[in-house]
Amino acid sequence: MSPLPPHFLIDRYGRRVTYLRLSITDRCDFRCVYCMAEDMAFLPRGQILTLEELHAVAQAFVELGVERIRVTGGEPLVRKGALELLENLGRLQGLQELTLTTNGSQLAQSAARLKAAGVQRLNISLDTLDPDKFRQITRSGDLAQVLRGIEAARAAGFRRIKLNAVILKNRNHHEVADLAAFAIANGLDISFIEEMPLGVVDDHDRAEAYYASDDIRRDLAARFSLHASNEHSGGPSRYYRVVGSDSRIGFISPHSHNFCDTCNRVRLTVEGRLLLCLGNEHSVDLKQVLRNHPGDTAKLKKTIMAAMEIKPQRHDFDLAEQPVIFRHMSVTGG
Ligand code: GTP
Ligand code: 5AD
Ligand code: SF4
Repeated sequence: MSPLPPHFLIDRYGRRVTYLRLSITDRCDFRCVYCMAEDMAFLPRGQILTLEELHAVAQAFVELGVERIRVTGGEPLVRKGALELLENLGRLQGLQELTLTTNGSQLAQSAARLKAAGVQRLNISLDTLDPDKFRQITRSGDLAQVLRGIEAARAAGFRRIKLNAVILKNRNHHEVADLAAFAIANGLDISFIEEMPLGVVDDHDRAEAYYASDDIRRDLAARFSLHASNEHSGGPSRYYRVVGSDSRIGFISPHSHNFCDTCNRVRLTVEGRLLLCLGNEHSVDLKQVLRNHPGDTAKLKKTIMAAMEIKPQRHDFDLAEQPVIFRHMSVTGG
């Protein structure tokens, strides 16, 4: 039997951090209405971590016991060198799983190379199957291009592909059964996500657009037979199996079913800020360590270990309030 890997990352509440979400750019070719304001300012090049710095942080985390890395953005595949970085991450000794969250716009040309790099699972955002609505929600995206990307990903043979659909009342809530049927027909999983109040968005009132996971589940029950499953994919999705198919339907319900007590993850923004919780601002500046002490892995690891002391117990999202978190979702990729 191989020895258990060392775990150096345990917070004050006894939660083991085994999962790093690595945002490799804050930029994106879409402007989804729940994620960004229409007019966004992005970080200047000098302020973001280089690919080498991102790799160094990932390596330090793996040496501290992190088993899974999910690469996110913005849209990770718009960063120049993203594929090379993923190839290098795929070679990290001790990493058990490398995954990617993407909007799918670049997948038609990069899916095969991602698979070869060692990416095991892909999560692809898809909120609607209507091309006009797709353009409205993403403010710029082309549904056909994303569908070609999903097709290329299926052909590349990833272990699992999951669609992510953020559901907004009166925008796309009528489509949940069609989205589930699309996932089932294509052998994919799908997660339905409650919108989170990160950053100020100008498109809609988030409280009015709230559509609870339980309502979605009720809508789906009219067309599908769902069975609760205790499977996990490492993140906060609660899964249901669809009778007669291999697909799983997940619900990410930060408002209606809090999952913070089992939180196993931290996030690195592309600015090098180690965020201890998606719904809080507690963070540690790793860029400063990387730039003031180049090559000092011990110092980097010590800083990461000390950061566990300030991981908050839970997020306190409140849709009725103006966002307390001013950072947009695109800064952390979820
Ligand atoms: P797996 O790692 O495969 O389970 O993926 P995931 O579904 O957690 O990740 P993905 O990047 O696809 O994100 C889907 C949604 O889950 C996004 O809206 C994320 O913001 C949300 N999410 C992921 N982790 C957390 C978390 O720790 N807290 C909250 N509130 N939301 C999260
Ligand atoms: N609330 C919930 N999910 C969001 N996403 C982006 N912004 C938000 C938000 N405010 C989703 C995207 C993507 C995933 C990483 O996060 O749709 O699938
Ligand atoms: Fe881009 Fe994803 Fe944000 Fe949409 S949700 S704007 S695809 S980062």
